[in-house]
Amino acid sequence: MPVSEPGVKVDAGQSGRTGSDRAPAWRDSAFLKACRREQTEYTPVWLMRQAGRFAPEYRAVRSKVGFLELCKRPDLAAEVTVTAVETLGVDAAIIFADLLLPLEAMGVGLEYAPGDGPLIHRPVRCGFDVERLPEVNVEESLAYVLEALSATRKALDANIPLIGFAGAPFTLASYLIEGGASRHYENTKALMYKDPAGWHKLMDRLAVITARYLNAQAASGAQAVQLFDSWVGCLSEEDYREFVLPHSKKTISELSDGIPVIHFGTGTPHLLELMREAGGDVIGLDWRISLDRGWDKVGHDVAVQGNLDPVVLLSDPKEIRRRVARILEQAAGRPGHIFNLGHGILPSTPYDNVKLLVEAVHEFGRR
Ligand code: CP3
Repeated sequence: MPVSEPGVKVDAGQSGRTGSDRAPAWRDSAFLKACRREQTEYTPVWLMRQAGRFAPEYRAVRSKVGFLELCKRPDLAAEVTVTAVETLGVDAAIIFADLLLPLEAMGVGLEYAPGDGPLIHRPVRCGFDVERLPEVNVEESLAYVLEALSATRKALDANIPLIGFAGAPFTLASYLIEGGASRHYENTKALMYKDPAGWHKLMDRLAVITARYLNAQAASGAQAVQLFDSWVGCLSEEDYREFVLPHSKKTISELSDGIPVIHFGTGTPHLLELMREAGGDVIGLDWRISLDRGWDKVGHDVAVQGNLDPVVLLSDPKEIRRRVARILEQAAGRPGHIFNLGHGILPSTPYDNVKLLVEAVHEFGRR
């Protein structure tokens, strides 16, 4: 199939073109302009976990199918993705999938146990376990995500860009090694400190898989990708530089030209300069640092995304609007700000507060 630019297939159904010679409509969307640090008419907003349990439409779908099954049904994944955009009025879609799906493809046994969060049945604990991990063909084993992306791209309004995503090598390694969520990342850090060669081998494998997976997502309909390094904030600057930076950098440097990359982490005020060094067109900021200080740290020659504390959405409309206004004041109308939460929407969030947030960003962020 002819490809006019990375990620954009030019068959009739997916081109999104509004006239014969015109670029796809999403190219001039506020979200993609902000990724390129171009001036926009208003501040674009989307929300991590915008398709999730806080939303009644999502809960209705989930009452019929399990989480993993939902991820593996391209028709339903597309429906859930598109519904979130249409009901909330956000400026970008993020494909409904999960960070840990590539680990299932690595044969370690993945389960989403109700209440317990994700579980890996056969965690990797030593260099020997790393050696035994099978080769993964992401295009084959994650074909269902790629199908969900193309189905979503077809169903989505042509003005709305679609974001693909994957876990960054460190955050993927942390699940692979801990076997699930963790507080202190003790097994992860123990492997890193005791067997640096085994650690680097694992991280290199994950970097290669992740880059291939993200490139496949771009070729299947994503206009931008987000690399989630959600738990990297548990590391010191020195450990990040030695054990993580080369691998995140490799992942990002292997991505197809022209596809904007959002490099996201939490608990990272001390790591922002290093994450910037690793790469990305947009750096994710969480609420632990104010948006203006975070942007100063990463530099104004890169875009930023963030950074409302998701817990603010459990307060009241007045407080939400006040804090949205404050973040936009800190962004000061500079090109290259994408409004988001500092982390995903919590399941207990009142639905109306999420709608109100999106409206407030559009109201206060208009130039
Ligand atoms: O943002 C979106 O709307 C897109 C979909 C998305 C999900 N997970 C759906 C999901 C995305 C981008 C993710 C990323 C993800 N998954 C991350 C990184 C994001 C972050 O929080 O930093 C991580 C660490 C995971 C792993 C994961 N998946 C965990 C820890 C859990 C359990 C926690 C929980 O909320 O139950 C999941 C399950 C999960 N992934 C749900 C959703 C909507 C809830 C599952 C359900 O329906 O019961």
